[in-house]
Amino acid sequence: MKFGHIAAACLSLALGTAAFAQQPTVLKIGYATSKESHYGVGSTVFCEEVEKNTQNRFKCQHFANSALGGEREQIEAIQLGTQDLLNTSTGPVGNFVPEVKIVDIPFLFRDYDHARKVMDGPIGQDILTKFPSKGIIALAWTENGFRHMTNSKRDIVKPTDAAGLKMRTMENKVHMDGYRTFGILPTPMAFPELFGALQQGTVDGQENPIPVILSSKFSQVQKHLSLTGHVYSPALLLLSPKVWNKLSDADKKVFTEAAKKASIAQRKKVNDDENNGIAQLEKDGMKVTRTVDGTAFREALKPAYVGYAKEFGADNIKKITDVK
Ligand code: PAF
Repeated sequence: MKFGHIAAACLSLALGTAAFAQQPTVLKIGYATSKESHYGVGSTVFCEEVEKNTQNRFKCQHFANSALGGEREQIEAIQLGTQDLLNTSTGPVGNFVPEVKIVDIPFLFRDYDHARKVMDGPIGQDILTKFPSKGIIALAWTENGFRHMTNSKRDIVKPTDAAGLKMRTMENKVHMDGYRTFGILPTPMAFPELFGALQQGTVDGQENPIPVILSSKFSQVQKHLSLTGHVYSPALLLLSPKVWNKLSDADKKVFTEAAKKASIAQRKKVNDDENNGIAQLEKDGMKVTRTVDGTAFREALKPAYVGYAKEFGADNIKKITDVK
């Protein structure tokens, strides 16, 4: 082989290696709603920050609209390492990390300020430390929002109006125990099945935050929306340990900082949807009940609180309600 040929071969090998070295690691991120929704907004900010601050060594492939399955299935995939990232409600998370369940108690949080303060404070941050021993990395609390009831039958002002309604719930025992005290017939179901179940009348209603009701177009299959705000629905940005354990300390910092920015953006989108989305849902034909009897709902819930105090400790519940 002539010298020129050898030099050309070496050069093309070097260029090939450089090109190979520059290939970004593609992270699969899943969430239940559309790319334009609160989950999509938070996930996009996370991915853009990671991409930018790792000089494009990482990038994301988004799987919106439950393309990778229900939230429970996706948590299992995170544990197995077949999925890299998940932006999920706490709905099924307590089945994997029991310490999460306390934040799913209905009427635990007064408002968004209270909920966000608890999640960002020592109580919420301590819960995040319980994930690694279960094969999951929790990067940050994001947000789904306060949940409201929709149904195809009637306006709900007080629990007796909800009584007898077959309502889809998340696969979450804390919620189901509470909702039974309202007289609701809870029907746990994975979210990807919900639109069809509402359309076919398999269930009368469901409960979800405004950003979900909007982005999932539930106005097409539900007439009545009651602003019950009966439970805060926190969310989490989860990462597979398979990815985390390979990151340098500097990259771990980039991922953690990016998750904080994602949380801010996701919460802002929840605020925007709460402020503008209800009017939109009315335009889309929903009948909105704004004057819900919160006192009657809290009163109905009292027997469930006896169970919650036994399971989680009255002191621990008080520590959360005492946060100002
Ligand atoms: O109702 C649920 O299952 C959740 O709120 C949802 C829509 C999957 C978002 O996390």
